[in-house]
Amino acid sequence: MSSPLVVGIAGGTASGKTTVARKVREALADCRVAFIDQDSYYRDLKDMPLVDRREVNFDHPDAFDTELLVSHLRALKQGQAIQKPVYDFVTSGRQPHTHRVDPGDIILIEGILVLHMKEVRDQMDVKIYVDADDDLRILRRLTRDIKDRGRDFDHVVGQYLRHVRPMHMGFVEPSKHHADIIIPHGGNNDIAIGMLVGALRARLASQHQSQR
Ligand code: C5P
Repeated sequence: MSSPLVVGIAGGTASGKTTVARKVREALADCRVAFIDQDSYYRDLKDMPLVDRREVNFDHPDAFDTELLVSHLRALKQGQAIQKPVYDFVTSGRQPHTHRVDPGDIILIEGILVLHMKEVRDQMDVKIYVDADDDLRILRRLTRDIKDRGRDFDHVVGQYLRHVRPMHMGFVEPSKHHADIIIPHGGNNDIAIGMLVGALRARLASQHQSQR
């Protein structure tokens, strides 16, 4: 059996990475695709008082349990299923249950820092960076965090200025230089997503061909 194709999808917060990953998965519904999101690997802060959790810098690489993420990526590459943590953004803690992810011919890994982290990046065959204008990203983030993540306006703005923006400039944006492909206009770029899906299908086909 050939080793799966590992595709990394990075980009700033609310850039459309999740949408790109979802559209790729939908277009490859006839293939075995394993999906892992870096957000699920945030460290569990359930032992930290709630008021302190709100002050944590979640945009720094240290906020993630990268060891677990890398070990799960390796297991999937070796054809083993993993139990992915389930993260709760409202409490900044892990849920008691996990989510089983089966191995696939393609492994999609998506997250703000997946291209920054060398130990994650080195596992990838295809590296994508999803780009979107900063004004659109902050507007999307405001709406999402207030609607879905239990935050209020002042908290989103404060966190953005204190952590999100500086970490984006220090880690996320520079990781673009590792990308093979940069997708502009986030998840709305169906032409780029279609080209990516075509390229992934071609690589899978040539792998199958060489096994015959
Ligand atoms: O989905 P997205 O890529 O935007 O998720 C990453 C963002 O989630 C980070 O920018 C980080 O600030 C935020 N985050 C948060 N609270 C947590 C964990 C992450 O606001 N508990």
